[in-house]
Amino acid sequence: MLASAWSDLVRGAVDRRHGFHVPVVASIGLDGAPSARTVVLRRVLPESCELHFHTDLRGPKVAELARDPRVSWTFYDAGRKLQLRVAAVAEVHATGARADEAWARSAPSSRRCYLAPAAPGAQCDAVSPNLPEALRMRVPTVEESLAGRVNFALVATRVTAIDWLHLASEGHERARFERGADGLWSGCWCEP
Ligand SMILES: Cc1cc2nc3c(=O)[nH]c(=O)nc-3n(C[C@H](O)[C@H](O)[C@H](O)COP(=O)(O)O)c2cc1C
Repeated sequence: MLASAWSDLVRGAVDRRHGFHVPVVASIGLDGAPSARTVVLRRVLPESCELHFHTDLRGPKVAELARDPRVSWTFYDAGRKLQLRVAAVAEVHATGARADEAWARSAPSSRRCYLAPAAPGAQCDAVSPNLPEALRMRVPTVEESLAGRVNFALVATRVTAIDWLHLASEGHERARFERGADGLWSGCWCEP
């Protein structure tokens, strides 16, 4: 089951139509309140138990993760009625080889949002797409997209526990897996 959960996560990262492609990831707000948002699952590395998303370095969640790196991911595949709740610890990479590699793997269409002139979440006087005028209606060229690199961050999260829940009319099934300090996983059934 654990291996199958990881292979579902891997598929979720590569298949845009998979239910796991746009999960919710929650961090702990600077005021201590939960802070959850939808993200795109960009990459899954089962060997190192990592789940990745990309974000704008100027956004509030980056400061939240610097203060407390614990996150909780929620994935739901409606077709298979399968929920995974994944506890993990985040590391934000704005520079260095890992961030450079993630940037290199990003298409110009994905890079466009990093060309936003203002920080995400900044108050504005009127509704605004927060994009340069010239790029409102089109994808940047690779050359144009490069200016967004400075705002780009890879958030690599290392999984510590997975709560697996399958809904079924004949009875729901739930299991919990934890990764010990030695890197080994243990698991048990639990009541749904
Ligand atoms: C379908 C969808 C995908 C999104 N993907 C991302 C993403 O990959 N990274 C990201 O930072 N924000 C993404 N967002 C926007 C976030 O949900 C959120 O609004 C934004 O990051 C601001 O969050 P913050 O104020 O907590 O930093 C996505 C939103 C939607 C609706």
